[in-house]
Amino acid sequence: MKRYHPALVGLHWLLALLIVMALIAGNVLLEAVPNSDPGKIAGLRNHMGLGITIGVLMLVRLGLRLLTGKPPHADTGSRLLNVAGRSAHWGLYLLVILMVASGLGIALSAGLPGIVTGSGAALPEDFSTYPPRAVHGLVSVLLMLLIAAHVAGWAYHALFVKDRLLSRMWFGKRS
Ligand code: HEM
Repeated sequence: MKRYHPALVGLHWLLALLIVMALIAGNVLLEAVPNSDPGKIAGLRNHMGLGITIGVLMLVRLGLRLLTGKPPHADTGSRLLNVAGRSAHWGLYLLVILMVASGLGIALSAGLPGIVTGSGAALPEDFSTYPPRAVHGLVSVLLMLLIAAHVAGWAYHALFVKDRLLSRMWFGKRS
């Protein structure tokens, strides 16, 4: 088998886009804006909607990934790099799920579902008193590092192994 299932391919690229958007929005549009800013609630509403969508799509993708056939493991020629590549893939699932779980943890502890849907209650002064907030910040850094390593792994395959690895994550004949 030469490629992943087309649903997995589509979800891979959609999730890549949504996760990068959530990381940028979280760092630039949320973290840097004080909770007293009038636009903060709308920013939180969008970020939470995006984050929950990512969580649902990630679980669907994980289910499909376990149920559908896939190409054999890529071989770099180095046992260590092969193990690192495979671990990075499972690490990406784990970190994204931790982002969504910790995000939900902040939202539920701070009463955000009511606030962003118009309860009229005010936001807490900031979120730092809620333990899931620290997890969300730390895991976001780990996720950015792992995404960078994932892209570096692709570049290594493209430049040194020259095995057209990316074609496995694109549409076309599977056999
Ligand atoms: C993969 C999904 C997600 C990503 C990539 C993501 C990314 C981020 C990032 C990068 C930050 C800023 C962290 C920092 O600089 O310390 C942030 C903050 C935050 N996120 Fe998420 N997030 C995700 C899911 C969620 C979900 C599902 C929720 C809630 C339902 C949520 C709620 C929040 C809240 C409340 C903050 C704090 C904003 C502040 O401190 O002002 N996130 N997120």
